[in-house]
Amino acid sequence: MERFYTTTAIDYVNGAPHIGHAYEKILTDVIYRHFSQRCEDAYFLTGTDEHGIKIQKTSAAQGITPKELCDINAQKFQDCWKALDVNYSQFIRTTDKEHEEVVQKIFKKLVDKGDIYKNSYTGLYCSGCEAFLSEKDLTEDGLCPDHLKKPEVVSEENYFFKLTKYKDAIIKHIKTHPDFIVPAFRANEVLNQLENIEDISVSRAKSNVSWGIPVLGDDEQVIYVWIDALSNYITALGYNPDGESGEKFNKYWPATVQVIGKDILKFHSIYWIAILMALELPLPEHILAHGWITIDQTKMSKSLGNVISPESILKAFNLEHPDALRYYMASAAPCGKDGNYSDEDFKEKVNAHIANSMGNLLNRTLSMLVKYFDGDIKPEFKVQSELFDKALETVKAVKHHFDYFEVQEASQKIIELVDITNKYVTDNAPWTLAKEGQMDKCGEVLTNVLEVMCVISSLIYPFCPNIAQAMAEQLSYDLSIKLDDLSCNNLKPGHLIDKEDIKPVFLRMDSELADKGKGK
Ligand code: MSP
Repeated sequence: MERFYTTTAIDYVNGAPHIGHAYEKILTDVIYRHFSQRCEDAYFLTGTDEHGIKIQKTSAAQGITPKELCDINAQKFQDCWKALDVNYSQFIRTTDKEHEEVVQKIFKKLVDKGDIYKNSYTGLYCSGCEAFLSEKDLTEDGLCPDHLKKPEVVSEENYFFKLTKYKDAIIKHIKTHPDFIVPAFRANEVLNQLENIEDISVSRAKSNVSWGIPVLGDDEQVIYVWIDALSNYITALGYNPDGESGEKFNKYWPATVQVIGKDILKFHSIYWIAILMALELPLPEHILAHGWITIDQTKMSKSLGNVISPESILKAFNLEHPDALRYYMASAAPCGKDGNYSDEDFKEKVNAHIANSMGNLLNRTLSMLVKYFDGDIKPEFKVQSELFDKALETVKAVKHHFDYFEVQEASQKIIELVDITNKYVTDNAPWTLAKEGQMDKCGEVLTNVLEVMCVISSLIYPFCPNIAQAMAEQLSYDLSIKLDDLSCNNLKPGHLIDKEDIKPVFLRMDSELADKGKGK
């Protein structure tokens, strides 16, 4: 694999980021960091979705301009991703001038092609979804099922996109590419939706929605926010509808995997694909639709007051880096299924997996190396071990899971290897070997464990980059090694570590502090 391009959904800036937004960005960052360990050139795009009626209304309610609201909240998203070590390559805002200009050109290209035409329309618009809904989408009480609000009746002359023209081609693509929509069980949902699609309205009357990108040559209309937003995946790379695209576009497009929530799969697997087909561009390889995060098994909502900010969790648990939360969130749900956040479960899992199993294993093994061998690895300690087979099998399994974007499953394999290694220590009891004077055997056991710890630090790196770095430092191990080159021959004979340099890589989350986390 030479290059890898991943994207996330771009978040609405009508509020601050919450743990649901964070779940997606962490998940994508873990995928991105894993594939960075497997290819030369990986690229990760995220950003904010800043136009539309929702932003217009929220800013009006707050007595500020839409742009002011966007600036305030876009910054909060960037700050939050920084706090979570979400290591994106580029952050796009749909109010960026370059983006706006290319969106206008894309729209014009589709008008010129005859794929966009003007028509009068009356429909039911949900500003929460930023979409028209049909009667049959609504609840019995006539509400949007996702936002539980009555959609507005909108009667406008709009531009329409000939979605129906691409219906058969999209169906064919989905059927002939079973790994296009991940997880595969969601493909049927999309195929069902495709049965009933109609052409879609792709502009709004400026008199109703003023906060949007104007249609070139038509002062009365602004471009529909989803057309604007979806285009970010290519405008960010320097796509030019009218001529040569930029170097980044040529290098990275089509995306390897576009990560989004299950609620916006229709927009990505139908609308976005049709737009790409209309622009005659290649399609992304995979669309990963992740599930939703609940809080204590309850849907997050402003009215319930249970919306959690990721930063408040870091603060409540007094965490100096975000690795614990990253590990917990990235492994919160099987691929594509819903997951849950609870303070208790967070504390319990991270303490068990990261502090007790993984962190302690390194700490006590290094301590024994110092105690019995002054921190030296002797050449005779380095022998082959069955444990190495397990480690290399795990590398293979982890790669395999990531190939299918099964991030939770990959994390479980890593922890399984940690457990196997802990059992190896217990079974071989190096302290007993030392007591019996079997020093070579004792040194061999410790070295084997430390070799595998090098592998574990590489595997855990995408989830816990800070902890992996701290592990690698104590092992004098080079974390930048590619996964394809991993071996169990990392440690050089000689002096490895002094007593004062052995430090716990992660401290157990303290129960008193954890309890404070509840009041967020
Ligand atoms: N702006 C659109 C996306 C445009 S992409 C071209 C949007 N924004 S959003 O802010 O509502 O959601 C952004 C992402 O966060 C979506 O993928 C959505 O599924 C995800 N999540 C929002 N709440 C979530 C949870 N509670 N749990 C997990 N992800 C959730 O949709």
